[in-house]
Amino acid sequence: MTVERIEDRAPSSRWERFAAALDERLGLSALRYPVPRHANSLAWTLGGLTLTSLLILIATGILLAQFYTPTPEAARESVLHIETQLQLGSFLRGIHIWAAQAMFVLAFAHLARVLITGSYKRPREANWLVGLGLLAMTYLLLFTGSTLRWDQEAFEAVEHNTGLASLAGGLGTWFTAEFGAGTPLVTRLYLAHVSFLPALVFGLLVIHFAWIKYHGISARPEVPVGAPDPDETVPFTSHARHLVGWSLILLAILMGLAATTVNPVGAAPVEGIEVTKPLWPFFWVYQIENWMGIRGLFWAPIVVFVALAALPFLDRGPERRPLRRRWVMVSALVLFGAWSVLTVMVALSGPVAHLG
Ligand code: HEM
Repeated sequence: MTVERIEDRAPSSRWERFAAALDERLGLSALRYPVPRHANSLAWTLGGLTLTSLLILIATGILLAQFYTPTPEAARESVLHIETQLQLGSFLRGIHIWAAQAMFVLAFAHLARVLITGSYKRPREANWLVGLGLLAMTYLLLFTGSTLRWDQEAFEAVEHNTGLASLAGGLGTWFTAEFGAGTPLVTRLYLAHVSFLPALVFGLLVIHFAWIKYHGISARPEVPVGAPDPDETVPFTSHARHLVGWSLILLAILMGLAATTVNPVGAAPVEGIEVTKPLWPFFWVYQIENWMGIRGLFWAPIVVFVALAALPFLDRGPERRPLRRRWVMVSALVLFGAWSVLTVMVALSGPVAHLG
């Protein structure tokens, strides 16, 4: 496969001459990577769309941060101010909340595509692990974000957080109110949400993309590991245009949802009661906690992440076609089925008190 470079052909239009001049100075074509024709489909664009949701989150998050106060006394009031007093504040917050859920769904759908097409196999095992790191960060961003409005649901989430911290021993100290006595927990969760979690995501993304460029996009699943990709390469700009098109559709959907739905802000928190459920991506562990207590909440995500991390090291053959990798597909379906059933169970039932 060859990478199309701007300087490979004589620029004809004014725009191409401008792009060539810019490239000569900034070396932007060095960022391009070969895109096989089959990657110009929605399934192979899900990673790019996950990135689009992240960019929307950063843009709306920066704007929201101008009006948010990260202290236990003022956090909920400042969210109510954004909702009711700030022009377009509710719309902006709505886009942020929906984009967070879109990022979660898209990252999962992207993981499913990589899993079904066996694209985690040699030489991409390490990039699969980096992807799992990104998924873990997405969960932590969702969690920290959902605590910031400091209503009853946020307060209960933080109480679970503190319960988890005690199970993690010394490692959990950071999550307790006692750590950094002068800085309240909600302020530290806010700091995590806007500084070091995004910084970790950025670092992981740099590695993810560097390895995508280094390995190239995987061939169709019909092509075994190690065989050359027979598919022709499309210009990177055609793939970029395809991604921009889908990104605009995603943005339109998020704006539509933000304009037509009501954003959550619950009652001011009351200590000692448990009357709420978490955000839906956490429903599956909530149900496990219903059965097994806080230990289930601690161990279940670890077990699932370790199982996913082990996949490229267990499924090592050259075969990439899904129907020829039956045990992988059956295990993935069982895992996804269990996740869906647990999620629906919590959606259909009321809140349960866990912390007693
Ligand atoms: C913030 C989250 C993520 C972003 C922004 C992201 C972005 C991308 C992009 C743009 C690609 C190029 C191909 C495509 O779009 O399908 C890609 C490929 C890849 N991603 Fe991700 N990704 C993320 C999360 C994940 C997760 C959760 C996994 C799996 C655990 C993963 C594993 C991989 C692998 C193995 C490839 C190479 C696939 C191939 O060559 O076909 N990524 N990623």
